[in-house]
Amino acid sequence: MTQAPANDLSAYWMPFTPNKAFKAAPRLFVAAEGQFYFTADGRKVRDGFSGLWCSGLGHCHPRIAEAIAAQARRLDYSPAFNFATPDAFRLATEIADQFPGALNHVFFTNSGSEAVDTALKMALAYHRARGEGSRTRLIGRINGYHGVGFGGVSVGGMPNNRKAFGPLLPGVDHLPFPYDAKVSGFTRGQPDRDPMAYLAELEALITLHDASTIAAVIVEPMIGSAGVFIPPAGYLARLREITAKHGVLLIFDEVITGFGRLGSPNGATFFGVEPDLCTMAKGVNNAAAPMGAVIASSQIHDTMMDATAFGIEFFHGYTYSAHPLAVAAGLATQAVLREEGVYARAAALAPLFEDLMHGLRDKPHVIDIRNLGLAGGLTLAADPEGPGRRGQALFLAAYEEGLSIRANGDTIAIAPILTSRPEDLEDIFSRLGRAFARLG
Ligand SMILES: Cc1ncc(COP(=O)(O)O)c(C=O)c1O
Repeated sequence: MTQAPANDLSAYWMPFTPNKAFKAAPRLFVAAEGQFYFTADGRKVRDGFSGLWCSGLGHCHPRIAEAIAAQARRLDYSPAFNFATPDAFRLATEIADQFPGALNHVFFTNSGSEAVDTALKMALAYHRARGEGSRTRLIGRINGYHGVGFGGVSVGGMPNNRKAFGPLLPGVDHLPFPYDAKVSGFTRGQPDRDPMAYLAELEALITLHDASTIAAVIVEPMIGSAGVFIPPAGYLARLREITAKHGVLLIFDEVITGFGRLGSPNGATFFGVEPDLCTMAKGVNNAAAPMGAVIASSQIHDTMMDATAFGIEFFHGYTYSAHPLAVAAGLATQAVLREEGVYARAAALAPLFEDLMHGLRDKPHVIDIRNLGLAGGLTLAADPEGPGRRGQALFLAAYEEGLSIRANGDTIAIAPILTSRPEDLEDIFSRLGRAFARLG
């Protein structure tokens, strides 16, 4: 067996990364503190994207790091099936306390993708348990991102994530993308547009397939990964009305909107709409260890519990569900969110963030800007040589200016750390301004 040299980059096949380009000019983070990463070649890079939407409290938060270290010494692993730790129940309760209404029961996973597949399976199993096993169809949305499991890719609506992987799950439809830059471009916050412009299709699908065949609709309350697109005012409330009327479950994928991104504990609370299931991950434990979760309504949970007289009620779970290290990080994260009033602080910072985002309007190639809470997205006109080149160029220029942002094709997303001070936001945007200047 050969020992690869420490700087051999060939063995690691990187996710969602242009591997060849990366390995020709790698960006290797070796440490982090607060709002900054430190690279192997001695750079200090401001985190303008909270990791990947996930480290809202900044990096290496001492309380979270200490909680993980102490847990690793006390109890490293406890079997997830037939055993549990007291802290897993504590964290579930703390999460449930932050979701509205009847959303009361938390099932732990290790990622957003697993949370999505879990929620879809819960929806199917719930209908079956209540004698409506014909409800098997799932409805997602164009440009939706629900992770990379087969379930999530099936209901997801990003073409590049789907096209290589065959027919995916059968019986899936997609709602229209609820945003049109031609009418809503450069809107601050939620566009003012008749939600039925985008929801009439749901009624048409229900008529076509009959409600008795449809299990659930899944949407991101705010579209994140596709580039921060905000649904029109009233869209989610109307979606709730239509799904409820037809006995179709509504799932909010809160992987990005959970735990503060909108200056609120979650999108359900922010938009004042109560779905039947929510997925979450990322901010639940500041991404200091892998963790995701699904929260289910009491109706779903109790139906599943009551349907089985003896034994396992839901044949689903992961070896690392409620992993003690992830739970320790989760409890510490939730304590910091609570004690430091992070949701309110993020909400208070949002107007400045909005102004800074929309201050980019006159930068070269910018053709749209959107924002909500501490999430911002902008679209660049595609380079004549092909889509995605300008987005990648701005991403690289930002890195040269010591700033990490996210590019998806020609859309750019900014997601500052939730505990930023105004001067942190200003520094993000001055670095971004210099990055635009490099684009020419
Ligand atoms: C809305 C949404 N759902 C699911 C996922 C997948 O999460 P993970 O990468 O943890 O599997 C993401 C990741 O960005 C997401 O934004």
